[in-house]
Amino acid sequence: MGDSSLPSDSALPNDSLFLGFDSSTQSLKATVLDSNLNIVKSEQIHFDSDLPHYKTKDGVFRDPSDNGRIVSPTLMWVEALDLVLQRLSKSGLDFAKVAAVSGSGQQHGSVYWKKGSAGILSSLDSKKPLVDQLGNAFSTKESPVWMDSSTTAQCREIEKAVGGPLELSRITGSRGYERFTGPQIRKLFQTNPEVYNDTERISLVSSFVASILIGSYACIDHTDGAGMNLMDIRLRVWSEKALQATAPGLEEKLGKLAPSHAVAGNIASYFVERSVPFLCFAWTFCVVFFSCINPIRTVWLLSATVFKQRPPAGLTLSVPGDVAISLGTSDTVFGIANDPQPGLEGHVFPNPVDLQGYMVMLCYKNGSLTREDVRNRCADNSWENFNKFLEQTAPLNGGKIGFYYKDHEILPPLPVGFHRYILQNFNGESLEGLKEEEVKEFDPASEVRAVIEGQFLSMRGHAERFGMPSPPKRIIATGGASTNSSILNSIASIFGSDVYTVQRPDSASLGAALRAAHGWMCSKKGSFVPIAQLYKDKLEESSLNCKLSVRAGNEQLVSKYALLMKKRLEIENRLVEKLGRC
Ligand code: ADP
Ligand code: XUL
Repeated sequence: MGDSSLPSDSALPNDSLFLGFDSSTQSLKATVLDSNLNIVKSEQIHFDSDLPHYKTKDGVFRDPSDNGRIVSPTLMWVEALDLVLQRLSKSGLDFAKVAAVSGSGQQHGSVYWKKGSAGILSSLDSKKPLVDQLGNAFSTKESPVWMDSSTTAQCREIEKAVGGPLELSRITGSRGYERFTGPQIRKLFQTNPEVYNDTERISLVSSFVASILIGSYACIDHTDGAGMNLMDIRLRVWSEKALQATAPGLEEKLGKLAPSHAVAGNIASYFVERSVPFLCFAWTFCVVFFSCINPIRTVWLLSATVFKQRPPAGLTLSVPGDVAISLGTSDTVFGIANDPQPGLEGHVFPNPVDLQGYMVMLCYKNGSLTREDVRNRCADNSWENFNKFLEQTAPLNGGKIGFYYKDHEILPPLPVGFHRYILQNFNGESLEGLKEEEVKEFDPASEVRAVIEGQFLSMRGHAERFGMPSPPKRIIATGGASTNSSILNSIASIFGSDVYTVQRPDSASLGAALRAAHGWMCSKKGSFVPIAQLYKDKLEESSLNCKLSVRAGNEQLVSKYALLMKKRLEIENRLVEKLGRC
């Protein structure tokens, strides 16, 4: 798989460092790798606690007056960048050794640059923090984020204009979804045309951070562009039909698209000259394109696994059969596909490290925050107590099934609400003649098991329906909650697969640092380099190693869960028919 034609001067130089950022929902994380791909530094800015003056909860504002509107203050992300650079500097990072930087941003979130802001970006004063200079650079101070679900009307309008939901999915990789950037832009254009007209450029969170780092507008990359309902997924250009269905004059505001591995530009002079707090990037340093969190986690997972030679080895999402589950603010399930057929459920994005391939994804909004909510109500705010309850209760939960939607859910499209059912005398053998009773509450331990089993039964059911492997050969778990082995145990029992973890809560910023190194190699060679080249002789000793965490559950239990899953999907379909948003 290696590329023997790679010139030796494109091997990672000894003593060089690679910096990765992850601007996600609740935090900005930074991870630094050395040229042996070992982690040398990591820092995190938690928006709610480190930047309390923005008054966010979980990094966002939930607008009580506009059903489903969820935004973040754009300037908070800028100040977080100031702060994380300060912290890296204080921790002794030698910025002059950083050869490349890359990053991931929460997907779909958008930033609206005011007319004239290109000038502000290109002339930042290195004596002042970024936050003091970019306060007036945005035509709206609030960025809609991926948790927003206020654009149902716009989704339906765009779908109708291009020839229906399936046609939109065929073109862009997804039917109309509320959080996708195209419907968000259409809503802004319809409800706030002055702001839309006063906008010279629209960035995604990923290209926004890259723009600051290069001091001019960075392109949106192909992988993040696929989360907008605007890009032709096969041709990897803006779709004329989708642009027209969304808002007038949009192409100009979006700028060009670029491949995910390409270099955005050199670091802005601001970061080279800034002496407070001792940032001193070198001029030769290059900035790689940023992309969204899910592909970046894929880079990491692919990276961590594809090129290992010996057992237990070979966690590879490039071999059909493996599935990754990310348990961050959102829960996502994804896999790699060569020729996916976009449908009415799930998403198709270009694979960021394979120019021809794709990744497929399902996304749940009620992930970690909903688990936290149950933990706080039932387990005294403690994961330890939460895990005790999970371990004390029997698999299948005595037939107790729960649906927990603290926020409007994406999959299935159900509004805020909790629904609990008990299947009387359920023993996992048959669904024949089972009586199902709707109840108001469960005891705390059953509530804990219900939120966990419910989520992973739903994932298994939808992943199977989407055509993902069943059972997956292996599951690779990542994101904040993947550090919880009791949760991983339930995943292994429900899916019937071994679960591997990357053993890091910062998989996205780590993936970004890898991408920086990969981008550096591509730019040195002047063309795409297979990512295998990055790991040559390095994987065993590097920080990339990924370990088996939990063995698959027994087959009998897996088939009992299959019955419970069937019942769950049946109830879910009824709920969608009664309450669904589509
Ligand atoms: P994001 O990148 O979307 O901001 P992260 O991947 O950093 O999110 O994950 C953050 C989430 O991880 C938190 O909301 C928290 O609930 C969850 N988390 C952290 N530790 C645990 C744990 N031990 N058990 C379950 N969930 C956890
Ligand atoms: C969260 C994030 C979400 C979205 C959902 O940071 O990016 O997973 O991608 O589509």
